[in-house]
Amino acid sequence: MNACQWLVSMAAATAAHLVAQTPTAPSWQHLGGGATVRDASNNAFSMPAPLLSPAERRAFVVGNSFFKQNWVTAPASTADRDGLGPLFNARSCSTCHFKDGRSRPPEDGEADRSGLLIRIGVPDGKNTDQPHPHYGGQVQDDAVLGTRPEARVVIRTQAIEGHYEDGTPFLLQAPEYELVDPAYGKLGATFVLGPRTAPQLIGLGLLEAIPAAAIEALADPEDRSGDGISGRAHYIAGQLGRFGWKATQATVESQTAAAFVNDMGITSRLQPDEVLTATERAHVPFASGGSPEIDDATFDRVVFYTRTLAVPAAREVTSPPVQAGREHFVAFGCAACHTPQFVTGPVAWQANYGEQTIHPFTDLLLHDMGSGLADGKRDGDASPQEWRTPPLWGIGLVPVVNGHSRYLHDGRARDLAEAVLWHGGEAEAAKERFRRASRPNREALLAFLRAL
Ligand code: HEC
Ligand code: HEC
Repeated sequence: MNACQWLVSMAAATAAHLVAQTPTAPSWQHLGGGATVRDASNNAFSMPAPLLSPAERRAFVVGNSFFKQNWVTAPASTADRDGLGPLFNARSCSTCHFKDGRSRPPEDGEADRSGLLIRIGVPDGKNTDQPHPHYGGQVQDDAVLGTRPEARVVIRTQAIEGHYEDGTPFLLQAPEYELVDPAYGKLGATFVLGPRTAPQLIGLGLLEAIPAAAIEALADPEDRSGDGISGRAHYIAGQLGRFGWKATQATVESQTAAAFVNDMGITSRLQPDEVLTATERAHVPFASGGSPEIDDATFDRVVFYTRTLAVPAAREVTSPPVQAGREHFVAFGCAACHTPQFVTGPVAWQANYGEQTIHPFTDLLLHDMGSGLADGKRDGDASPQEWRTPPLWGIGLVPVVNGHSRYLHDGRARDLAEAVLWHGGEAEAAKERFRRASRPNREALLAFLRAL
């Protein structure tokens, strides 16, 4: 079903409800199909999917405790959670994904810098970046006692003025990043940085269960359809990438193993080696917390937890502005990338995740978003300008759960309108339709986004 058919079928569903004189909300409010919960509180991103069996709920609870707990330096009396570092960004998953939600870039002078992770690389003139000789692929800005963090990031912003077609002005903030206090050797002149915030972790098992063929069917790398929107699948070692801002990880399992080793210095069966460069190995003394540092059973529980977080239901779905905004979303061309509907296929790890009709508002494809959003860093073979369409479910609850409204890969947008105004490249035409729209129509579109 394409976006227009989706709208028509949803309108028909609404009309049917009117005929039956029932004020029932349209079915798309169950954004995560059977994995949807009705919760708009600050715990909205932390609920288990209703599809889980009682035994699976127990696994979810165990996974949750290891997601939240702080890892400690080895050797420790708590052998099941030691092995932190020696270099790391945070002590627990939930430091960055606070309440399973989204992080934001640090404010000026703020001590906690963990909300923004900085990838680093050296372009080799080909399709991908090489790890930095001294600092590897990610800047670890924290370290165990007695060890120096790799470096610190300083953020500066530049104001960009613009205005809506009706004359209303707006101000965007373009960030610039600088690394200071490098501890393990010269940074050199040719490195590039890739700043990334941590996204909310809801509905990931559902995104994993979308059949690859359904995603590949939406790709149009040569833009044969001539609509200005191409979109291409990002293959990682032959597998379709789905997770991360540049779709660099194919599965929740591989993303979790990468998070453990890169963000916390915890080795696992999928990532058995600490990520230290030769320079760092020569300078950093450390004690291993076991080999691997997280045992398989615990690792699997964290993966299970991360896969099965429920999606909160959409709210206010029968309110006139939200209904109108949903129509503008299609008319402006947003749905060309933020795909409104998929049906999941069967998965091996859970019996009920297949056959779910879901509304994630993403095609999981890479799109060229223009030079304004580019940061110079390639991930895999995704170019600096290419980003994976992020799912929009839950986006309206970020302020409730995380107390901020920072959006886009580096959190530069300070609200949803700014997030849209940064769109360029393949999304330039859609952005322009929003910018040229009347204030009531813009407000309606934003009301729809806030309802997700
Ligand atoms: C230092 C902060 C930090 C920590 C700690 C951290 N993450 Fe993340 N997480 C991120 C960032 C940043 C991204 C986006 C990465 C990218 O774009 O490549 C991310 C992305 C993810 C994703 C992909 C989500 C999506 O929608 O694409 C998953 C899953 C995930 N993290 C799970 C975990 C788990 C599980 C842990 C603990 C083992 C963890 N993270 C620890 C910062 C963190
Ligand atoms: C060409 C594909 C494309 C189109 C068309 C498009 N988007 Fe996006 N959208 C993206 C991508 C890719 C990103 C992530 C960009 C980044 O983080 O730098 C994004 C990000 C967003 C975000 C922020 C999400 C987050 O998690 O921070 C919102 C909100 C959004 N889009 C809404 C819209 C709306 C509304 C429209 C229509 C006016 C639209 N988009 C049109 C691809 C698209």
